[in-house]
Order: sequence, then C-alpha cells, then structure tokens
Amino acid sequence: MSPDSVTITDHRTGKSYDVELVDGALPAISLRQIKTPEDDFGLMTYDPAFSNTASCKSRITFIDGGQGVLRYRGYPIEQLAGRSTFLEVAYLLLDGELPTDDQLRSWSASVVQQFGIPSEYKALFRAFPPKSHPMGVFISAVAGLSTGFPDAKSVREPAERRQQIVRLLGVVPVAAAYALRAFQGATSLPDADPSLGYVDNFLRLCFAAGGGAPGGGAGEPHPVLQRAMDALFVLHADHEQNCSTSAMRNVGSSLSDPFSSLAAAAAALYGPLHGGANEAVLRMLTAIRTRDAIPEFIDRVKSGKTRLMGFGHRVYKNYDPRAKIIKKLADEVFAVQGTNPLLETAQALEKVALEDEYFVERKLYPNVDFYSGLIYQSIGFPVEMFPVLFAVGRAAGWLAQWNELIGDEEQRIARPRQIYLGPARRDYPAQRTSR
Ligand code: SDX
Repeated sequence: MSPDSVTITDHRTGKSYDVELVDGALPAISLRQIKTPEDDFGLMTYDPAFSNTASCKSRITFIDGGQGVLRYRGYPIEQLAGRSTFLEVAYLLLDGELPTDDQLRSWSASVVQQFGIPSEYKALFRAFPPKSHPMGVFISAVAGLSTGFPDAKSVREPAERRQQIVRLLGVVPVAAAYALRAFQGATSLPDADPSLGYVDNFLRLCFAAGGGAPGGGAGEPHPVLQRAMDALFVLHADHEQNCSTSAMRNVGSSLSDPFSSLAAAAAALYGPLHGGANEAVLRMLTAIRTRDAIPEFIDRVKSGKTRLMGFGHRVYKNYDPRAKIIKKLADEVFAVQGTNPLLETAQALEKVALEDEYFVERKLYPNVDFYSGLIYQSIGFPVEMFPVLFAVGRAAGWLAQWNELIGDEEQRIARPRQIYLGPARRDYPAQRTSR
C-alpha cells in the first residue's frame, strides 16, 4: 500500500478498502466501491455547507485560517494591498503572474476602454424607483446585460472568455455606480472618461450626482481616497471557495455565460452572513450608538438573540489579515475626511469581544467586514452601497475562478447528491382529483 493512502473497513460487510489520496485529499468518488449487497450506489459523504469538502483544485488563492494568512498566487495580501493596484491584482489572479509594465499598461487600457454600459441598457437602471437597494439593481442589471453580449456564451473559447472577462471588469464598476444613482433617484447616467484611471472613473461616476467626488477639488476624488478604494478592491478581490465564488463556479459549471454567473455570485454575496455583513455592521454600530450600550448588546449576542456582525469566519480562526490592513486604511481616510464617529464604538466593541470568553472559545475575530463600512461611509457612500462595493472588488476573483473552472478538465456540471429522508412510495388517493 502506498503511504499516501487510507484503509477503510466496512463493518457492515467486514470488507476493507485501500483508497489512494489525491493531493492529500480523499476522492469522494472512491467511496462508491464501499457497498452492501442491498445498495447498488455505494457510500456517499454527508457534508452540509461543504465545510469539509474540496469542490475543486485551484492555484489562485491560499488561506491559512489558523495563522491568518492570505495570499493571491503566492503573494501575501499585506504586500499587494500596500504596493499593488486593483487592476494589477486582477491580472495576477487571472494569469498567475505579475504583468510586465507593458502588459499592465495594455491590460489597464483594455479594461478602462470597456468602462461603460451600452446606452440602450441604461434604461435598466431608470426602471427602479428611488431607494431601490443598489445590490438588487446591480444583480438585475448584470444579469440583464447578458442579453447584450450573446458572444459571451462561447465560454469554451479561451480568447472569448478573456474578452468577456475584460468587458465585465469594465462593466461591473459602471453598473455599480449606476445602481447607486438609481438608489439616489438620479436619472442622469454619465459616461465614464477613458482617459481616467479605474478608481478615479468609478468615484466620479458614483458622486457626480451629489456635487462631485469626495474630498477632491473640482470633481477629482482626493488621491488618498482613491488609493484607499483601490486597496479595498485589492483586499476584496478573491478569497478562494467562499459562498459567492462557489455560486460563480456552480452556475458557470452549466456553461452559463459569465454575466449570468456573476449575477448569481453577486446574489450570493448579498446575504448578511456574507458580503451583506459590511452593511449589517454599520447598522449594528448605529443601533448601539455609544459604548455604554455595548455590555447589553454583548449579552444579547451571547444569549443568541443577535450576532456580532463583522465577527467570525468559517476559515479564519484568527484575526482576518484583511481587517488589520483595513484598520490602517481607515486612519488614512479619516485624516482626509475626519474620523467616523462610529469608530470609537467599533473599537470598544472589538476590545470587549476579544476579551470575552464567548468569543475567545469560539475563535471569533473581526473579519473583512468589521471596519470596511466605516471607510465607505466616511468617503460618502450610503450603507446600502457597501455590498455593491464588495462585489466590484470580488468581480476580479469571481472571473479568475470561473476561468479556472472552465479550463479544468476534471470539472463537470455541479450536481451534489442527497440523503433522502422523505416518504416511501405511496399512491395518489383514487377518489381525489384537483384538476
Ligand atoms: C465574508 O468564506 C469567506 O471567505 C467569506 C469572506 C470572503 O472574503 O468571501 O471572508 C467574506 O463573508 C466574511 C463573513 C461576514 N459575515 C459576518 O460577519 C456575519 C457574522 N458572522 C457569522 O454569522 C459567522 O461567523 C460566519 C457566517 C461568518 C461563519 O459562520 P460558521 O462558520 O457557519 O460558524 P457558525 O455559525 O457555525 O458559528 C459557530 C459558533 C456558533 O456558536 P455555538 O452554536 O457553537 O454556540 O460561533 C457562533 C455561533 O453562534 N458565532 C457567532 C458569530 N459567528 C459565529 N456568535 C456571535 N456573533 C457572530 N458573528
């Protein structure tokens, strides 16, 4: 028997099975050989929420949850957030290597050239009444935009996939900005300026309705805020097989086009347990308001009446490395915009939680969503926009993961099994009809 194997004994039959491990994991399909004379399907694994199941092999992002490590294609997130840019990281996630200067120049230009929504589709954003949640508008618009690019269905063609990826990296930020304007009831949807950079364009489109970009002079967003937004997009760009990336892969596995797959991923991100947590954190901090209300709030959390949003993680059982970086970014933004009054409540809440046995024994630490909203709010975004900002950054990871999936020979359409606990066969009552 090879050292990279396990032996499983089925005590129902007394038989033993030697199973080869693959890349350190047990191929679930190898369990099918373990069967009793009554069952012809063989053994399955049962793993609700897939907390111990690898759905794929990937070379994109590595997380060590115990050590609080996050690397994109081997590069530590601390170095990328501090010295790279979102477009360079998007290239790295997709192609696996950092671009040369020429490659980065042409890559950036190709993405910014795609900055825009075909004019006939702008009506999508005007169809929503003011105060429509921008994440719902964003999801609908991205899904609807799939009808404008039928060539996006040629997902098996690598060159076509790349074209769609570049197109989506340009469409997503504009759809996000227009979703904000729909929420604000602004009917003017200005076009992007291809002479400007990615974040500069995005911030101008977001704030054009409200009298100009934040912190800047005549329309130009303050460079510190641009840098902070770029770093936040880098920090949110990918996170291996999280819920929304799994949705992107699942939908993509049926060979759905990348617009529809990305809309599905954004829908998964919307949930308050996932990317919607950044909005939930701000609402939580606003409701707590001052530090004297913290003890009562913590009691409610510990009695299971509510959750400390922005805390905890399925993989990190240590401080989320992104949260540490975001805390530093907040100082830079507050130096320009003034300190967010909720910062003190957030810091006091974090301190109490990190010292409380309930959180310590469950290894609950601040995650990426705990402090990010304080920055977004200081820059001028409404809380409803926060999940959309998460989606803008994560679009790079969703697309890189989707591209990897489609190119993976071992992947097929996703179709999990179930353990059936429902009723056995029974007949429809003879005298009954509902026609
Ligand atoms: C993101 O997967 C990713 O990588 C996601 C993400 C990414 O970049 O894609 O990192 C982004 O989604 C970050 C997480 C944002 N969500 C929140 O901040 C919402 C609050 N956190 C949680 O609800 C929770 O921690 C999750 C959803 C993040 C993780 O949930 P798990 O792994 O399913 O953990 P669990 O719900 O089984 O909790 C284990 C225990 C439970 O207590 P007991 O039943 O053992 O008594 O910890 C408790 C939970 O009640 N717990 C919390 C808590 N999180 C877990 N208690 C209070 N407050 C919390 N936030």
